[in-house]
Amino acid sequence: MVRHIACLRGWHPALARAEIAALLPEMNVTRLEGRRLLALAGESEEMALAEAVAVSSGCQAILCHAIVWPCEGEATIDRFMPVILEHLNNHPRDGTVAVRAWRHEGRIEGVGPSRLAQRIGGRLHDMGYAIDLEHPQHRFGVVIDASSNTIACGWMLGFGDESDGVSSRKAAERPFFKPVSLDPRLARLAVNLASGPVGKGATIDVMTGTGGFLIEAALSNRIAVGLDLDPMMVEGTIENLEWALNAEGKTEHSAMVLTGDATKLTEALGELGAPICGFVLDPPYGRNSQGSIEPMALLESVLASAQEVANTDAGLVLILPIHPMGEHPDEPIPSRADINLLHGDWQEIEHALRNAHWSVQNRWVEHVHASLSRLILHATIAPQD
Ligand SMILES: C[S@@+](CC[C@H](N)C(=O)[O-])C[C@H]1O[C@@H](n2cnc3c(N)ncnc32)[C@H](O)[C@@H]1O
Repeated sequence: MVRHIACLRGWHPALARAEIAALLPEMNVTRLEGRRLLALAGESEEMALAEAVAVSSGCQAILCHAIVWPCEGEATIDRFMPVILEHLNNHPRDGTVAVRAWRHEGRIEGVGPSRLAQRIGGRLHDMGYAIDLEHPQHRFGVVIDASSNTIACGWMLGFGDESDGVSSRKAAERPFFKPVSLDPRLARLAVNLASGPVGKGATIDVMTGTGGFLIEAALSNRIAVGLDLDPMMVEGTIENLEWALNAEGKTEHSAMVLTGDATKLTEALGELGAPICGFVLDPPYGRNSQGSIEPMALLESVLASAQEVANTDAGLVLILPIHPMGEHPDEPIPSRADINLLHGDWQEIEHALRNAHWSVQNRWVEHVHASLSRLILHATIAPQD
């Protein structure tokens, strides 16, 4: 079976793993020893893999038909070079090439990315490849992972950048900003986790506020709808959406912003002409929320309404502020872990999800600061009797 390796960014590998699994549902995704390396097993068109990397928030690159080599130091590299050469012979490419090498999780003594890139580049040159460092048609990616003392390499999809190009679009720079605005990196990840592959259907940002999720869904070529009860938020979100699309030079998109009630989605959304495959939900909370009704009753109604309009294989991502419970970047939190919400009671959330026939798949925690963390919850439609 074909096996590729996904290389994850360091921000939250556990969430990035779930994101890639959602974007590539046909692949079997397993964590390798290094927390930022994932094995992807199965058959998938290279175009589908490339699209997953291009829209993802947490994945730096996919190394195709990758090889993984234990690396203790410089001496191991001499033994690795013939293996790389054989790999290159087995997987030739047409066109110009370059090597991109980088480190994950610290250093392996005596093994540096520049030196390794030069050595592999030299072999590629000897094999007759034209090297183009600026705009190569193919990049050969090499990751030196110090957490597992391994090197993974293969022809690469994506650019291997630690910075995602998503978090550089700071929410505070948008024309319409409120402190509730979501960080684009998390918003993009939530959209992908909830909705799966881009062509699957529409993503609904049910209580869009300043358009955090909507913008990320629109920029990743999704059919995207942002809905808010407050006309001022709708106006501001339209402004933010236009600004973001302009900034990325995007002239065509399938995004819209509607004024409407998230507890009455059938009415609010009308005929979309596409199945709804993802809901992203950052509800109002606490005493100062602009909600139409009390926050827990609102959430319960929205979950039920979303279930009514959802496609049978739809996903939902709910984000809630919680009291800090330590950092958990490597794994989801155990299903029995106590969650201490900033507003309200966790049992009530569980009850609301169950009542509305949403089945919780996993929960993760993102540490924000000393007095705030976030719970990121992924649910899918519960099987009906
Ligand atoms: C926490 S904010 C969302 C913030 C958003 N994620 C962002 O990035 O700006 C919650 C939003 O829910 C909206 N809202 C409250 N009740 C609603 C309802 N019944 N239907 C639709 N929107 C509602 C509020 O107007 C508010 O803008």
